Formats: sequence, C-alpha cells, structure tokens
Amino acid sequence: MHIRPVAAVTGALVGLTAFSLPAAAAQAADHPHRPVTVAHRGASAYAPENTIASINAAHRMGIDWVENDVQRTKDGKLIVMHDTTLNRTTNVEELYPNRSPWKISDFTLGEIRKLDAGSWFGEKFKGERVPTLERYMDAVSHNHQKLLLELKSPELYPGIEAQTIKELRREGWMDRQHVKRRLIIQSFNGDSVKKVHELRPDIKTGFLGTPAVADLPKYAQFTDQINPSHTSINMAYVSAVHAFEGAHGRPLEVYTWTVNDAATAKKVAGWGVDGIITNKPDVVRDAVKDAGFQVPAA
Ligand code: G3P
Ligand code: CA
Repeated sequence: MHIRPVAAVTGALVGLTAFSLPAAAAQAADHPHRPVTVAHRGASAYAPENTIASINAAHRMGIDWVENDVQRTKDGKLIVMHDTTLNRTTNVEELYPNRSPWKISDFTLGEIRKLDAGSWFGEKFKGERVPTLERYMDAVSHNHQKLLLELKSPELYPGIEAQTIKELRREGWMDRQHVKRRLIIQSFNGDSVKKVHELRPDIKTGFLGTPAVADLPKYAQFTDQINPSHTSINMAYVSAVHAFEGAHGRPLEVYTWTVNDAATAKKVAGWGVDGIITNKPDVVRDAVKDAGFQVPAA
C-alpha cells in the first residue's frame, strides 16, 4: 500500500464551487505549477480524432503529449478509435450498409482499412485512415511525442492489456526511457488498469473517473493518476487526490478532461491539476502559460 495521510481534507468533496478568474490568477501565484497539455484524440478540434492527421496537427502546434483510444478488430488487430462502433467517424454505413450496428469487433482489419476516417470531419481530410496501433506508434515516435494511451472498453477485448504491451514492446516503447518519460496507460475500467500494473509495474497508469476520496487508497495501489471530468471536481478534490501516494510512491496526479476554453483551463490549473486533456491544445497551452503557471523543474 502506498498511502500518505491526508492532511486537511476529508470526505468526498466532489461538486462545483464558484471560482472567479481573478481567484484563478491569484492561485497561479500560490501554486505556480503549470499543468501538462494533452491533445485529446490528437488535436481533435482541428483534425479528425484518433488519426495520424490529428497527432500531426498537435505536433505542428508544438504539443508533445497526445491521447488516444485503443480497441481490437474481429481478427485480433489493435486499432485506434474512440467509439466501439465505426459509423460516427467513418463511411462504414456507405461501404457496408448491411452490417449494422457496425461494431469494431465485427470487422476485420482488411475491411477497416478501406474506410475513410477523415471526410466526416472535413473534405481536406478525405482518405485519412483508421490507424493501426502500430502505424500510430510509428507516427508518435517520428514526431517525438508522448502518449497517454487509453484502453477503451477493455471488457470487450479480453487480454488487450498484454496485447497492447506486446505491441508497444515491438514498437520500441518498453525500454526504460519510454516507460519512464513518454508513456501513461489509462482506462475507465479499474480492473484493466490494475492488470496493466500487474503485467508491467514500471508503467505509469491512470484511472479515468472520479472515485470517492474514501476509495482512493484502493486505486493508489495500482495507479499513478486519477483522471476525472473537469465538471465533476473542485479544488478540494484535487488536493485530496494529491494527498495520497500512487503506485510509484509519488503523489497521485490529476489529469482532467475535456477542457476546451482558456477560462476553464486557468480555473483547473488554479486548482492544481497536473494535466489538462483538450481538443484545443493550443488554446489550453497558451492560457496556462499566459496566466503565469510555471513549468516545474525537471
Ligand atoms: O483522456 C480522457 C478522455 O479521453 C476520456 O473520455 O470518452 O474521450 O475517451 P473519452
Ligand atoms: Ca479517450
């Protein structure tokens, strides 16, 4: 167990409190730590989510952390996509009209490779493909980016934790430098996060959600981060999370999502979050910088 005593915070303090911008600015002076900006599904306000175009867009903005979602095809290949079905972000209904509800797990990689994952977002992205995790990792590596990898709905894909780690190893991401500095694996499924920790205790992990403070010691045994929706937390909750040591003996971190405007970015930075996950990484990065939050010393 890696638990530090909680100092001045008790109870589940989830809920919204009023927090003005001047107060946020004052908080920047008190807590100058600048949160990491993470491009959610890539820079997904500017390019189709979870595509190579979306991480390249983040790269062009100078954003080095990208987030994605990993799932598995019918023939057992790992691909990057958010929804468990293909129809929102591809032309699958046009190509395979009789295959409703178009679940990823009902399609082979060969079939998915034929899909256009860009046109729904904009004509200029026509022909963008659903990336395999392998192709995606090649691009992340090429861009010298870092990855917050989400195992999406892992309960649908038994063994996906070990398979993902194996794929990451094949891509050269299981060496010390990558594991220590460039990779976090997260999921809404606590059992899946725990599995990753058991398989590779050196990997940094995150639990997506807003557990009650009383339950944090349980999560702290196998995770390094608690990553909640920004609408579900307040400053007291962030402080309460920080008061526990995570699986690697450092204070549990908070990466919050999905923050797409400057005012909210400054507000949550003022609460002391460690990372902000956003569709508009340029907006968030500039907001926290301009508000005076300083990059922590390495
Ligand atoms: O990384 C946080 C965020 O991705 C969780 O929600 O639905 O976008 O995967 P979702
Ligand atoms: Ca995600």
